[in-house]
Amino acid sequence: MIKIGIIVGSTRPGRNGEAVARWVHDHAVRRGDAHYELVDLKDYDLPHLDEPLAAATGVYEHPHTKTWSDTIDGFDGFVFVTPEYNHSTTGALKTAIDFLFAEWHDKAAGVVGYGVSGGVRAAEHLRQVLGQVKVADVQAAVELLMHADFEDFTTFKPAAHQEDMLSKLLDQVVSWSKALRPLRM
Ligand SMILES: Cc1cc2nc3c(=O)[nH]c(=O)nc-3n(C[C@H](O)[C@H](O)[C@H](O)COP(=O)(O)O)c2cc1C
Repeated sequence: MIKIGIIVGSTRPGRNGEAVARWVHDHAVRRGDAHYELVDLKDYDLPHLDEPLAAATGVYEHPHTKTWSDTIDGFDGFVFVTPEYNHSTTGALKTAIDFLFAEWHDKAAGVVGYGVSGGVRAAEHLRQVLGQVKVADVQAAVELLMHADFEDFTTFKPAAHQEDMLSKLLDQVVSWSKALRPLRM
């Protein structure tokens, strides 16, 4: 069975990202079509990029990089859960991507964004970055609005139609993750 990592892209105390990622995970595991796992950047505590050699070399000095590499290496595809911070994704997520290179290659991903404008600018920025690390980003997107899908901007209560979008996104991530499998061998 293929393995899909659901990456929680925000790390700040009181973040909405954890509730959004749990919603994605709860919905995903009910499908039974892949092994879905939450990957919380907070648990990896990555510093600003501190590897002396470029990630493209695959030579890592620090234990935190090796642990992160092993985690990402084990997945066939991803769902990135990202808020919009100043029209982009989070610094924490960008750094987590920058730490590695080959570990991302030839895998599929979908983006679940949230923010005042549904996280759309963050998602588009993130898609540019994913292309550079050879992650194939799927067409379907979940765009969660702070004023419609969160109560008082803090309690996550997604509108019913968001679950349909999430299903479409997961359909595409699973099918592309499977289709790209020969390239990962
Ligand atoms: C530093 C910062 C910058 C933000 N910039 C934007 C923005 O440019 N556009 C937007 O729609 N929302 C913006 N927001 C609102 C966030 O998307 C919203 O608060 C979201 O809950 C943040 O995710 P988090 O709670 O998981 O950290 C910003 C929030 C923060 C903390």
